[in-house]
Amino acid sequence: MKKTILLKVNPRKPEMDEIHVAAALIKSGGLVAFPTETVYGLGADALNPKAVRALFAAKKRPPDNPPIVHISNAKDVHKMAKGIPCDAEKLMKAFWPGPLTLIFKRSPIVPDETVCGLSTIAIRMPRHNVALALIKESGCPIAAPSANLAGKPSPTSAKHVMEDLEGRIDAVLDGGPTRIGVESTVLDLTVDPPEVLRPGGTSLEKLKTVMKQVVLNPVVTAEEPVPLKQVRSPGLKHKHYAPKADLIVVEGDLEAVAKKIIELTRHYIGSGRKVGILATDEAAGRYAVCNVKSMGSRSNSATAARNLFRLLREFDSEVVDIILAEGVPTKGLGLAVMNRLRKASGYTIIKTDNG
Ligand code: TXA
Ligand code: MG
Repeated sequence: MKKTILLKVNPRKPEMDEIHVAAALIKSGGLVAFPTETVYGLGADALNPKAVRALFAAKKRPPDNPPIVHISNAKDVHKMAKGIPCDAEKLMKAFWPGPLTLIFKRSPIVPDETVCGLSTIAIRMPRHNVALALIKESGCPIAAPSANLAGKPSPTSAKHVMEDLEGRIDAVLDGGPTRIGVESTVLDLTVDPPEVLRPGGTSLEKLKTVMKQVVLNPVVTAEEPVPLKQVRSPGLKHKHYAPKADLIVVEGDLEAVAKKIIELTRHYIGSGRKVGILATDEAAGRYAVCNVKSMGSRSNSATAARNLFRLLREFDSEVVDIILAEGVPTKGLGLAVMNRLRKASGYTIIKTDNG
């Protein structure tokens, strides 16, 4: 086990002494977790194959799932990608720095390790001063998947990173809780029309203000496992976001959802299981078990997104056997919240709507 050092930094104006320590580690092939506006990432020099191999090992990440490469200057896209379509310039101008990852054809300077041998590369510029300072000072693009053990919910605080990776990585830059709480939207620009492979921090509604045409890959709205041959984003094949407890998502009109959750709670408590409920403010007061957590109001998808992974991890630490989760509307960031919840449940979904 190595010693993981915790470097506290001001998220808006990071202290350069700490950034220099972290950047020196990245430059020498080390692994440093850092905050972004979405979730914490686990960074390694994207152009150093040995560092990238260590990144996969630390996370126990399946070897066929490439990380996102983070940059601090949009010009760097041209070094790592080729055949950049016209739409890309518009998107980068509108959404970078920000929670949008773009998939391009890769250039030969990118090591095979960084893209798992694919002919494409995922790139984004994060909107967080700690992340941007680290990339600049390191002087290299930083490959950074979310800083959790593979399969676990993404970390939205340095504490979550330490729970999963302490002793396995060199350092964590602690810049406090992240603002958005779900990962970036992944948009594939190598196909026409461009396709959303993972819904995330940039909503579909926002993308549509800039793009004439954009489509959702079937995995985005899937309500059951999608056959492997239809899966184009490697990460989507693997188990994800899963808390230790079983999770059931109950979807439909709020009245019917609340009724169903009350019925299921009785059933599971009756059979001796410890139940947790992931609710929204509008219905949280109606559940009579003690372990009820609210994601916030149903009308505020940004709040639900910010709270989701933190609450799933809280249930983990409180020894719950089964989590009953209310579905939320799929508008705005609600699309990403529902995508994560359905995946976390292994597609155990109960629909309460008639017909
Ligand atoms: O917000 C985020 O995106 C966070 C922060 C740290 O930036 N990062 C993150 O990385 O969520 P990760 O590695 O956990 O998720 C990257 C996703 C995976 O679903 C992966 O399969 C997909 O991007 N991806 C990476 N390269 C790809 C490629 N060439 N083609 C299609 N999908 C790709
Ligand atoms: Mg991840």
